[in-house]
Amino acid sequence: MNPMPETLTIKRPDDWHLHLRDGDVLLAVLPYTTRCFARAVVMPNLHPAITTVAAAQSYRERICAAAGTRRFTPLMTLYLNDQFDVAQVKLAKASRIVHAVKLYPKGIATAGQPGVSAIERCYPVFDAMQEHDLPLLVHAEVTDVSVDIFDREGAFIDRSLEPLVRNFPGLRVVVEHISTLEAVRFVEAASSKVAATVTPQHMLLNRNSLFEGGLRPHHYCIPVLKREEHRLAVLAAATSGNPKFFLGTDSAPHLKRLKETACGCAGAFTANSAIALYAQAFEQANALHQLEGFASFHGPDFYGLPRNEDSITLARKPWTVPVEIPVGQGESIVPFRAGHELAWQLME
Ligand code: DOR
Ligand code: ZN
Ligand code: ZN
Repeated sequence: MNPMPETLTIKRPDDWHLHLRDGDVLLAVLPYTTRCFARAVVMPNLHPAITTVAAAQSYRERICAAAGTRRFTPLMTLYLNDQFDVAQVKLAKASRIVHAVKLYPKGIATAGQPGVSAIERCYPVFDAMQEHDLPLLVHAEVTDVSVDIFDREGAFIDRSLEPLVRNFPGLRVVVEHISTLEAVRFVEAASSKVAATVTPQHMLLNRNSLFEGGLRPHHYCIPVLKREEHRLAVLAAATSGNPKFFLGTDSAPHLKRLKETACGCAGAFTANSAIALYAQAFEQANALHQLEGFASFHGPDFYGLPRNEDSITLARKPWTVPVEIPVGQGESIVPFRAGHELAWQLME
């Protein structure tokens, strides 16, 4: 038997699904991402949402200013809604800074912006995206409250995603933050135009962790964590070496006081420990040798971007996730797994 490796060097990874927010939060969270990742797909769910290339351009400038001298490329996205101007698709492709359009179904309760009320209404936009080969990123959950919250991803796949990929076979689609066996099966069976991102929390935890000795707001994200059989399916897919599955943290910072409250926000902040969390998940699946493909190759290959050339090194060197990360004047963010020890550590 091989001895357990003490260090692991892989090509520098990218984060294909990231929330950076703006202002003080952006300043506080960005260094954690740039320390590890060369690029990140930046989600557009700000207030107001980023719906035009011009807005994406100015948001990109704020991110680059916050990054300062650190080398980092934000890959911008546009927020799709019922009023979306189809002319933005061609502009986006030509801009070379906007790399995708993000679809949130209306009512996804993260930021209160109006998402898409009926997918069919966006078919003209998908037509243009297919023509210009601009990927569609999907938060794949129905918002129909009559559907059980644990079934909302499967229902969205049946009701909206199956018809979408059938009607637009040339459209590249990323099913974001997959959380179920149904999503794994859908992506595996679809054409090579369809891929998925996987978060560390959906690989490491099941829904029991929401109620571990009490209510755990920092384990609450959407899609909500599922049963163990779903976690195992997501873990197996991500660690299989299948290029359709790649790293997207969905790191979603919310202030501590907005998480630890009667109606807490959805989202796990993982940017400060992401690669260590993924290493732990891959090790659990006896698949550390597949981490590099998942973290550093499959994403750029799908997006048609070059792979990074430099590398990062992880060491088996336990460290404890900080209990809080300061934000601006007197606010803070509680990171995912705060106070827990992780086995792998990102070296400078
Ligand atoms: O838990 C989540 N938080 N899921 C999302 O899809 C969005 C995110 C956020 O923006 O906070
Ligand atoms: Zn989402
Ligand atoms: Zn997200």
